[in-house]
Amino acid sequence: MNVNGSKPPRDTVVAEFQQRFGEPPAFLVRAPGRVNLIGEHTDYNDGFVLPLAIERAVWIALRARDDSEVRVRSVDFSEGARFDAARPERGGGPAWGEYLKGTAWALAEAGFPVAGWEGVMAGDVPIGAGLSSSAALELATARAFAALSDGDWNGPVVARLAQRAENEWVGMNCGIMDQMISAVGVAGHAVLIDCRTLDATPVPLPTGTAIVILDTTTRRGLVDSAYNERRRQCEEAAAYFGVRALRDLTADVLELRLDELEEATGHRARHVVTENARTLAAAEAMTDGDAAALGDLMNESHASLRDDFEVSSEALDAIVEAARGSDGCYGARMTGAGFGGCGVALVERAAVGDFVRDVARAYQLRTGLEPKIYVTGASDGASAIAAEARGG
Ligand code: GLA
Repeated sequence: MNVNGSKPPRDTVVAEFQQRFGEPPAFLVRAPGRVNLIGEHTDYNDGFVLPLAIERAVWIALRARDDSEVRVRSVDFSEGARFDAARPERGGGPAWGEYLKGTAWALAEAGFPVAGWEGVMAGDVPIGAGLSSSAALELATARAFAALSDGDWNGPVVARLAQRAENEWVGMNCGIMDQMISAVGVAGHAVLIDCRTLDATPVPLPTGTAIVILDTTTRRGLVDSAYNERRRQCEEAAAYFGVRALRDLTADVLELRLDELEEATGHRARHVVTENARTLAAAEAMTDGDAAALGDLMNESHASLRDDFEVSSEALDAIVEAARGSDGCYGARMTGAGFGGCGVALVERAAVGDFVRDVARAYQLRTGLEPKIYVTGASDGASAIAAEARGG
Protein backbone atom coordinates (compact mmCIF):
# COMPACT_ATOMS: atom_id res chain seq x y z
CA MET A 1 0.00 0.00 0.00
CA ASN A 2 2.41 2.65 -1.04
CA VAL A 3 1.13 6.06 -1.90
CA ASN A 4 3.78 7.85 -3.82
CA GLY A 5 1.90 11.11 -3.98
CA SER A 6 2.24 13.75 -1.31
CA LYS A 7 -1.25 13.41 0.19
CA PRO A 8 -1.42 11.37 3.43
CA PRO A 9 -3.42 8.14 2.93
CA ARG A 10 -5.98 9.28 5.49
CA ASP A 11 -6.90 12.29 3.35
CA THR A 12 -6.76 10.18 0.21
CA VAL A 13 -9.30 7.62 1.40
CA VAL A 14 -11.68 10.24 2.80
CA ALA A 15 -11.59 12.30 -0.42
CA GLU A 16 -11.89 9.25 -2.66
CA PHE A 17 -14.77 7.88 -0.59
CA GLN A 18 -16.64 11.17 -0.83
CA GLN A 19 -16.13 11.23 -4.56
CA ARG A 20 -17.27 7.64 -5.14
CA PHE A 21 -20.18 7.48 -2.72
CA GLY A 22 -21.29 11.11 -2.59
CA GLU A 23 -21.12 11.25 1.20
CA PRO A 24 -18.47 11.08 3.90
CA PRO A 25 -17.46 7.62 5.16
CA ALA A 26 -19.25 6.22 8.21
CA PHE A 27 -15.98 4.86 9.57
CA LEU A 28 -12.32 5.40 9.11
CA VAL A 29 -9.95 2.65 10.25
CA ARG A 30 -6.19 2.54 10.38
CA ALA A 31 -3.62 -0.18 11.09
CA PRO A 32 0.14 0.43 11.15
CA GLY A 33 3.14 -1.43 9.79
CA ARG A 34 5.96 -2.23 12.16
CA VAL A 35 9.68 -2.25 12.66
CA ASN A 36 11.30 -4.64 15.12
CA LEU A 37 13.97 -3.19 17.41
CA ILE A 38 15.20 -6.59 18.56
CA GLY A 39 13.95 -10.16 19.01
CA GLU A 40 14.22 -11.61 15.51
CA HIS A 41 13.10 -15.11 14.53
CA THR A 42 12.06 -15.63 18.14
CA ASP A 43 8.28 -15.29 17.75
CA TYR A 44 7.71 -18.78 16.31
CA ASN A 45 9.89 -20.14 19.11
CA ASP A 46 7.45 -18.82 21.74
CA GLY A 47 10.05 -16.17 22.60
CA PHE A 48 10.23 -12.41 23.05
CA VAL A 49 10.10 -9.58 20.52
CA LEU A 50 10.39 -5.81 20.91
CA PRO A 51 8.80 -4.12 17.89
CA LEU A 52 7.09 -0.77 17.50
CA ALA A 53 4.15 0.24 15.33
CA ILE A 54 5.42 2.78 12.80
CA GLU A 55 3.69 5.93 11.63
CA ARG A 56 3.00 4.40 8.22
CA ALA A 57 -0.31 2.59 7.99
CA VAL A 58 -3.11 1.16 5.88
CA TRP A 59 -6.29 3.27 5.98
CA ILE A 60 -9.81 2.23 4.97
CA ALA A 61 -12.80 4.57 4.72
CA LEU A 62 -16.06 2.61 4.69
CA ARG A 63 -19.78 2.36 5.18
CA ALA A 64 -22.06 -0.60 5.85
CA ARG A 65 -23.88 -2.50 3.12
CA ASP A 66 -27.23 -4.25 3.47
CA ASP A 67 -25.83 -7.59 2.30
CA SER A 68 -22.71 -9.59 3.17
CA GLU A 69 -20.63 -8.32 0.23
CA VAL A 70 -17.35 -6.52 0.75
CA ARG A 71 -16.33 -4.13 -2.03
CA VAL A 72 -13.05 -2.28 -1.68
CA ARG A 73 -11.28 0.06 -4.02
CA SER A 74 -7.50 0.23 -3.56
CA VAL A 75 -6.21 3.66 -4.49
CA ASP A 76 -2.61 2.41 -4.56
CA PHE A 77 -3.33 -0.49 -6.91
CA SER A 78 -6.01 1.38 -8.89
CA GLU A 79 -8.27 -1.64 -8.75
CA GLY A 80 -11.08 -3.12 -6.76
CA ALA A 81 -11.77 -6.38 -4.94
CA ARG A 82 -15.14 -7.84 -3.98
CA PHE A 83 -16.22 -10.95 -2.18
CA ASP A 84 -18.96 -12.38 -0.03
CA ALA A 85 -17.75 -12.02 3.55
CA ALA A 86 -20.06 -14.84 4.63
CA ARG A 87 -18.60 -17.23 2.04
CA PRO A 88 -15.23 -15.98 0.81
CA GLU A 89 -13.61 -18.02 -1.94
CA ARG A 90 -9.99 -18.06 -2.95
CA GLY A 91 -8.83 -16.42 -6.17
CA GLY A 92 -10.78 -14.55 -8.80
CA GLY A 93 -9.45 -11.12 -7.89
CA PRO A 94 -6.30 -9.19 -7.09
CA ALA A 95 -3.70 -10.84 -4.82
CA TRP A 96 -4.13 -8.18 -2.10
CA GLY A 97 -7.80 -9.13 -1.86
CA GLU A 98 -6.80 -12.49 -0.39
CA TYR A 99 -5.65 -10.75 2.82
CA LEU A 100 -9.10 -9.25 3.25
CA LYS A 101 -10.86 -12.52 2.45
CA GLY A 102 -8.58 -14.49 4.75
CA THR A 103 -9.27 -12.07 7.58
CA ALA A 104 -13.05 -12.29 7.01
CA TRP A 105 -12.77 -16.07 6.97
CA ALA A 106 -10.69 -16.25 10.19
CA LEU A 107 -13.03 -13.83 12.03
CA ALA A 108 -16.12 -15.78 10.97
CA GLU A 109 -14.52 -19.12 11.89
CA ALA A 110 -14.00 -17.72 15.40
CA GLY A 111 -17.60 -16.60 15.63
CA PHE A 112 -17.11 -12.87 15.06
CA PRO A 113 -19.74 -11.07 12.96
CA VAL A 114 -18.67 -10.26 9.41
CA ALA A 115 -21.20 -7.91 7.86
CA GLY A 116 -20.83 -6.45 4.36
CA TRP A 117 -19.26 -3.06 3.71
CA GLU A 118 -17.90 -0.95 0.92
CA GLY A 119 -15.08 1.51 0.90
CA VAL A 120 -11.75 2.81 -0.21
CA MET A 121 -8.30 1.82 0.95
CA ALA A 122 -4.84 3.41 0.72
CA GLY A 123 -1.62 3.24 2.68
CA ASP A 124 1.98 4.28 2.95
CA VAL A 125 3.64 1.13 4.33
CA PRO A 126 6.10 0.17 1.59
CA ILE A 127 5.03 -3.20 0.18
CA GLY A 128 7.38 -6.15 0.44
CA ALA A 129 10.00 -4.15 2.34
CA GLY A 130 9.70 -6.19 5.53
CA LEU A 131 7.63 -3.55 7.32
CA SER A 132 4.53 -5.75 7.54
CA SER A 133 2.24 -4.13 5.02
CA SER A 134 0.28 -7.39 4.95
CA ALA A 135 -0.28 -7.48 8.72
CA ALA A 136 -1.39 -3.84 8.49
CA LEU A 137 -3.88 -4.80 5.78
CA GLU A 138 -5.22 -7.71 7.84
CA LEU A 139 -5.61 -5.60 10.97
CA ALA A 140 -7.24 -2.73 9.08
CA THR A 141 -9.69 -5.24 7.61
CA ALA A 142 -10.42 -6.70 11.05
CA ARG A 143 -10.95 -3.16 12.35
CA ALA A 144 -13.39 -2.47 9.54
CA PHE A 145 -15.51 -5.51 10.43
CA ALA A 146 -15.30 -4.66 14.13
CA ALA A 147 -16.36 -1.05 13.52
CA LEU A 148 -19.57 -2.25 11.84
CA SER A 149 -20.51 -4.69 14.57
CA ASP A 150 -19.75 -2.30 17.41
CA GLY A 151 -18.26 -5.22 19.32
CA ASP A 152 -15.36 -5.25 21.77
CA TRP A 153 -11.88 -5.12 20.34
CA ASN A 154 -9.38 -7.51 21.86
CA GLY A 155 -6.02 -6.85 20.20
CA PRO A 156 -4.27 -10.16 20.95
CA VAL A 157 -7.35 -12.22 19.98
CA VAL A 158 -7.68 -10.40 16.66
CA ALA A 159 -3.92 -10.64 16.08
CA ARG A 160 -4.15 -14.44 16.41
CA LEU A 161 -6.97 -14.52 13.87
CA ALA A 162 -5.07 -12.29 11.46
CA GLN A 163 -2.08 -14.61 11.82
CA ARG A 164 -4.39 -17.52 11.06
CA ALA A 165 -5.54 -15.71 7.91
CA GLU A 166 -1.94 -15.29 6.84
CA ASN A 167 -0.95 -18.88 7.71
CA GLU A 168 -3.97 -20.74 6.42
CA TRP A 169 -5.58 -18.51 3.80
CA VAL A 170 -2.57 -16.76 2.27
CA GLY A 171 -0.18 -19.64 2.98
CA MET A 172 2.63 -17.71 4.65
CA ASN A 173 3.83 -19.51 7.75
CA CYS A 174 4.67 -16.37 9.80
CA GLY A 175 4.78 -16.02 13.57
CA ILE A 176 2.63 -13.68 15.65
CA MET A 177 4.87 -10.60 15.92
CA ASP A 178 3.64 -8.52 12.97
CA GLN A 179 -0.07 -8.92 13.64
CA MET A 180 0.39 -8.39 17.38
CA ILE A 181 2.26 -5.11 17.12
CA SER A 182 -0.11 -3.79 14.45
CA ALA A 183 -2.92 -4.57 16.90
CA VAL A 184 -1.45 -3.42 20.21
CA GLY A 185 1.18 -0.77 19.35
CA VAL A 186 1.50 2.18 21.74
CA ALA A 187 2.54 5.69 20.66
CA GLY A 188 6.01 6.64 21.82
CA HIS A 189 6.79 3.06 22.88
CA ALA A 190 8.13 -0.22 21.66
CA VAL A 191 6.20 -3.21 23.00
CA LEU A 192 7.82 -6.20 24.65
CA ILE A 193 5.68 -9.13 23.54
CA ASP A 194 5.81 -12.57 25.07
CA CYS A 195 4.89 -14.62 22.03
CA ARG A 196 3.69 -17.55 24.15
CA THR A 197 1.27 -15.70 26.44
CA LEU A 198 0.80 -12.61 24.24
CA ASP A 199 1.46 -10.42 27.26
CA ALA A 200 2.41 -7.02 25.89
CA THR A 201 4.40 -4.49 27.90
CA PRO A 202 5.01 -1.02 26.45
CA VAL A 203 8.54 0.31 26.99
CA PRO A 204 9.36 3.94 26.23
CA LEU A 205 11.78 4.83 23.43
CA PRO A 206 14.90 6.38 24.98
CA THR A 207 14.62 10.17 25.07
CA GLY A 208 16.86 12.07 22.67
CA THR A 209 16.94 9.18 20.18
CA ALA A 210 15.31 8.49 16.84
CA ILE A 211 14.42 5.21 15.17
CA VAL A 212 15.65 5.14 11.58
CA ILE A 213 14.48 2.55 9.06
CA LEU A 214 17.09 1.73 6.43
CA ASP A 215 15.56 0.15 3.35
CA THR A 216 18.24 -1.58 1.27
CA THR A 217 15.70 -1.67 -1.61
CA THR A 218 16.68 -5.31 -2.13
CA ARG A 219 13.80 -7.79 -1.86
CA ARG A 220 13.38 -11.44 -1.36
CA GLY A 221 10.03 -13.19 -1.19
CA LEU A 222 8.91 -14.34 2.24
CA VAL A 223 7.01 -17.42 1.15
CA ASP A 224 10.42 -18.72 0.85
CA SER A 225 11.94 -22.03 1.70
CA ALA A 226 14.62 -20.40 3.87
CA TYR A 227 12.08 -19.11 6.42
CA ASN A 228 10.38 -22.47 6.67
CA GLU A 229 13.72 -24.23 6.87
CA ARG A 230 14.75 -22.04 9.83
CA ARG A 231 11.48 -22.85 11.55
CA ARG A 232 12.02 -26.55 11.01
CA GLN A 233 15.57 -26.41 12.37
CA CYS A 234 14.35 -24.59 15.48
CA GLU A 235 11.62 -27.17 16.03
CA GLU A 236 14.13 -29.97 15.57
CA ALA A 237 16.43 -28.48 18.20
CA ALA A 238 13.55 -28.03 20.65
CA ALA A 239 12.40 -31.60 20.08
CA TYR A 240 15.93 -32.92 20.56
CA PHE A 241 16.19 -31.30 23.98
CA GLY A 242 12.65 -32.30 24.90
CA VAL A 243 11.36 -28.76 25.38
CA ARG A 244 8.10 -27.36 24.06
CA ALA A 245 9.89 -24.55 22.20
CA LEU A 246 13.38 -23.05 22.11
CA ARG A 247 12.10 -20.40 24.51
CA ASP A 248 12.34 -23.10 27.18
CA LEU A 249 15.94 -24.03 26.48
CA THR A 250 18.44 -22.44 28.87
CA ALA A 251 21.72 -21.00 27.67
CA ASP A 252 23.60 -23.31 30.06
CA VAL A 253 22.10 -26.52 28.69
CA LEU A 254 22.61 -25.40 25.13
CA GLU A 255 26.22 -24.48 25.70
CA LEU A 256 26.95 -27.80 27.38
CA ARG A 257 25.27 -29.90 24.71
CA LEU A 258 25.64 -27.80 21.56
CA ASP A 259 27.90 -30.36 19.93
CA GLU A 260 25.18 -32.98 20.00
CA LEU A 261 23.23 -31.06 17.37
CA GLU A 262 24.01 -30.97 13.69
CA GLU A 263 26.13 -27.82 13.21
CA ALA A 264 23.65 -25.54 11.43
CA THR A 265 20.79 -26.59 13.74
CA GLY A 266 22.98 -25.81 16.74
CA HIS A 267 23.75 -22.37 15.42
CA ARG A 268 20.06 -21.66 14.80
CA ALA A 269 19.23 -22.68 18.36
CA ARG A 270 22.07 -20.56 19.74
CA HIS A 271 20.72 -17.53 17.92
CA VAL A 272 17.24 -17.98 19.36
CA VAL A 273 18.39 -18.61 22.92
CA THR A 274 20.80 -15.66 22.96
CA GLU A 275 18.33 -13.40 21.10
CA ASN A 276 15.65 -14.01 23.72
CA ALA A 277 18.10 -12.96 26.42
CA ARG A 278 19.13 -9.88 24.42
CA THR A 279 15.52 -8.89 23.92
CA LEU A 280 14.72 -9.02 27.62
CA ALA A 281 17.93 -7.08 28.34
CA ALA A 282 16.97 -4.52 25.69
CA ALA A 283 13.59 -3.91 27.32
CA GLU A 284 15.38 -3.33 30.60
CA ALA A 285 17.87 -0.97 28.98
CA MET A 286 14.95 1.00 27.54
CA THR A 287 13.22 1.16 30.87
CA ASP A 288 16.47 2.58 32.27
CA GLY A 289 16.70 5.02 29.36
CA ASP A 290 20.05 3.50 28.43
CA ALA A 291 20.36 4.08 24.67
CA ALA A 292 23.98 2.94 24.57
CA ALA A 293 23.15 -0.45 26.10
CA LEU A 294 20.20 -0.89 23.73
CA GLY A 295 22.41 -0.03 20.75
CA ASP A 296 25.03 -2.60 21.80
CA LEU A 297 22.37 -5.29 22.03
CA MET A 298 21.11 -4.40 18.55
CA ASN A 299 24.64 -4.75 17.21
CA GLU A 300 25.00 -8.16 18.85
CA SER A 301 21.64 -9.21 17.44
CA HIS A 302 22.81 -8.42 13.93
CA ALA A 303 25.98 -10.46 14.34
CA SER A 304 23.95 -13.42 15.58
CA LEU A 305 21.44 -13.17 12.71
CA ARG A 306 24.29 -12.93 10.24
CA ASP A 307 26.56 -15.65 11.61
CA ASP A 308 24.34 -18.09 13.50
CA PHE A 309 20.92 -17.74 11.94
CA GLU A 310 22.29 -16.85 8.50
CA VAL A 311 19.43 -14.66 7.34
CA SER A 312 21.31 -11.46 6.56
CA SER A 313 22.52 -10.48 3.07
CA GLU A 314 25.31 -8.43 1.54
CA ALA A 315 23.00 -5.44 1.21
CA LEU A 316 21.78 -5.72 4.80
CA ASP A 317 25.33 -6.08 6.12
CA ALA A 318 26.38 -3.09 4.02
CA ILE A 319 23.63 -0.81 5.27
CA VAL A 320 24.13 -1.86 8.88
CA GLU A 321 27.86 -1.18 8.60
CA ALA A 322 27.19 2.16 6.92
CA ALA A 323 24.91 3.06 9.82
CA ARG A 324 27.41 2.05 12.46
CA GLY A 325 30.14 4.03 10.73
CA SER A 326 28.05 7.21 10.83
CA ASP A 327 28.08 9.70 13.70
CA GLY A 328 25.31 9.52 16.26
CA CYS A 329 24.54 5.80 15.79
CA TYR A 330 24.01 3.82 19.01
CA GLY A 331 23.42 0.56 17.17
CA ALA A 332 21.98 -0.99 14.02
CA ARG A 333 20.78 -4.35 12.77
CA MET A 334 18.74 -6.04 10.11
CA THR A 335 15.05 -6.21 10.97
CA GLY A 336 12.27 -8.60 9.97
CA ALA A 337 12.71 -11.94 8.26
CA GLY A 338 15.94 -10.97 6.48
CA PHE A 339 17.58 -11.82 3.12
CA GLY A 340 16.65 -8.32 1.96
CA GLY A 341 14.40 -5.51 3.07
CA CYS A 342 15.33 -3.18 5.91
CA GLY A 343 17.75 -2.45 8.66
CA VAL A 344 16.91 -0.41 11.75
CA ALA A 345 19.16 2.00 13.63
CA LEU A 346 18.96 3.78 16.96
CA VAL A 347 20.34 7.26 16.44
CA GLU A 348 21.00 10.32 18.56
CA ARG A 349 18.14 12.66 17.68
CA ALA A 350 20.33 15.71 17.20
CA ALA A 351 22.46 13.84 14.65
CA VAL A 352 19.66 12.39 12.52
CA GLY A 353 19.92 14.76 9.56
CA ASP A 354 23.61 14.11 9.00
CA PHE A 355 23.16 10.43 9.77
CA VAL A 356 20.61 9.94 7.00
CA ARG A 357 22.83 11.70 4.49
CA ASP A 358 25.99 9.82 5.53
CA VAL A 359 24.38 6.38 5.50
CA ALA A 360 22.85 6.96 2.07
CA ARG A 361 26.19 8.02 0.70
CA ALA A 362 28.20 5.17 2.25
CA TYR A 363 25.66 2.53 1.24
CA GLN A 364 25.44 3.77 -2.31
CA LEU A 365 29.20 3.90 -2.64
CA ARG A 366 29.45 0.34 -1.46
CA THR A 367 26.56 -1.26 -3.34
CA GLY A 368 25.61 1.09 -6.15
CA LEU A 369 22.07 1.08 -4.76
CA GLU A 370 20.12 4.07 -3.52
CA PRO A 371 18.57 3.29 -0.14
CA LYS A 372 15.26 4.62 1.18
CA ILE A 373 15.57 5.97 4.68
CA TYR A 374 12.67 6.77 7.00
CA VAL A 375 12.84 8.35 10.43
CA THR A 376 9.87 7.05 12.38
CA GLY A 377 8.16 7.58 15.69
CA ALA A 378 6.12 4.84 17.38
CA SER A 379 2.37 4.99 16.79
CA ASP A 380 -0.69 3.39 18.32
CA GLY A 381 -1.96 0.07 17.03
CA ALA A 382 -5.04 -0.46 14.86
CA SER A 383 -7.86 1.92 15.60
CA ALA A 384 -11.28 2.93 14.31
CA ILE A 385 -12.46 6.48 14.10
CA ALA A 386 -16.24 6.86 14.10
CA ALA A 387 -17.99 9.29 11.79
CA GLU A 388 -18.49 12.05 14.34
CA ALA A 389 -14.75 12.18 15.16
CA ARG A 390 -13.66 11.83 11.59
CA GLY A 391 -12.34 15.26 10.66
CA GLY A 392 -10.08 15.83 7.65
C1 GLA B 1 8.59 -12.12 9.54
C2 GLA B 1 7.45 -12.89 10.17
C3 GLA B 1 7.44 -12.70 11.68
C4 GLA B 1 8.81 -13.01 12.28
C5 GLA B 1 9.91 -12.28 11.52
C6 GLA B 1 11.28 -12.65 11.99
O1 GLA B 1 8.38 -10.75 9.73
O2 GLA B 1 6.22 -12.44 9.65
O3 GLA B 1 6.46 -13.50 12.26
O4 GLA B 1 9.05 -14.38 12.30
O5 GLA B 1 9.83 -12.51 10.12
O6 GLA B 1 11.49 -12.21 13.29
